[in-house]
Amino acid sequence: MIYIKDMEDLDWRILRIVEICLKNHEWVPIKEIVKKAKLNQNEVSYRISRLIHIKMLNSSQYGYRISHWGYDALAIDTYSKKDLIVGMGGKVGVGKEGDVYNVLLPDNRNAVLKFHKHGRTCFTMGKRYRNYLADKRHMSWLYSSRLSAEKEFEVLTALYPIVKVPEPIANNRHTILMGKMEGTDLKKANLHRLDLNPEELFEEIIEEVKKAYKLGYIHGDLSEFNILINSDGDFVIIDWPQVIEINDNKFKIEKISSKDVEYDVEYYLKRDIGNLLRYFKKYGLNKDLDTLYNYIIN
Ligand SMILES: Nc1ncnc2c1ncn2[C@@H]1O[C@H](COP(=O)(O)OP(=O)(O)OP(=O)(O)O)[C@@H](O)[C@H]1O
Ligand SMILES: [Mg+2]
Repeated sequence: MIYIKDMEDLDWRILRIVEICLKNHEWVPIKEIVKKAKLNQNEVSYRISRLIHIKMLNSSQYGYRISHWGYDALAIDTYSKKDLIVGMGGKVGVGKEGDVYNVLLPDNRNAVLKFHKHGRTCFTMGKRYRNYLADKRHMSWLYSSRLSAEKEFEVLTALYPIVKVPEPIANNRHTILMGKMEGTDLKKANLHRLDLNPEELFEEIIEEVKKAYKLGYIHGDLSEFNILINSDGDFVIIDWPQVIEINDNKFKIEKISSKDVEYDVEYYLKRDIGNLLRYFKKYGLNKDLDTLYNYIIN
């Protein structure tokens, strides 16, 4: 539980200072906080103990750092102060690397707020995310979560509304605010019961993959888990932080050497198509991977 209601102005100030100081410290020493806060040591100690008590800060012998909840609270507070969201509801979904909550926009529309959470579970995408961290700031879940949210927001902005993806509304810290798809994961949907034609749906999804490719993006984790569909057969492709960007060099754009294997665009695109083929096989669809691949890239 995040106790935002217990937060006083000075608590927010100390939390923000710790956040800023984490750019240069693994753990922020109290004297650094005192200096930046322009408050006396007793006041700062009192604020820190309050923040630790409500689990917004973690402490060690070296100093303090922000907790996942503290970081979540800062993002929620920012959206609220900017009048971007006026209410927050329950969880929509829990992913491997993030939680997604229902939120209410000022115009009464429903939307979702996705929190990127690296380091809470294993850090599987390590190598790729480290590429984002070229600015030499020290590595932490805080920065990698933030960069992954920024990346996802950037991709949604580039793709929407040409490709069927959620509408990007705002990005703050490790979160993105986006349009809500009232539907279910394709994994859980029964296409026959929904009276949808699997082959038509498959072809529509391939069209979106092709459009995204033309705009320079390969999803990189496409599967029935990352497609949301409603009973009308409308769908969106979600979960884009691990996207592969296609730069000027059309092939071998992002070479990643791992165990002497070099992955490239062909590898990622074929893996995405392969995942779709595997899912649609249970509906009796049998298409050729190479033909689909050539269709998308030409
Ligand atoms: N725009 C949206 N509208 C409605 N529900 C959504 C939306 N975005 C995400 N969700 C829900 O939240 C779940 C997790 O979202 P998403 O796949 O983006 O996060 P993730 O943490 O990266 O997941 P994973 O790592 O497990 O793939 C989705 O499976 C879906 O149920
Ligand atoms: Mg997902």
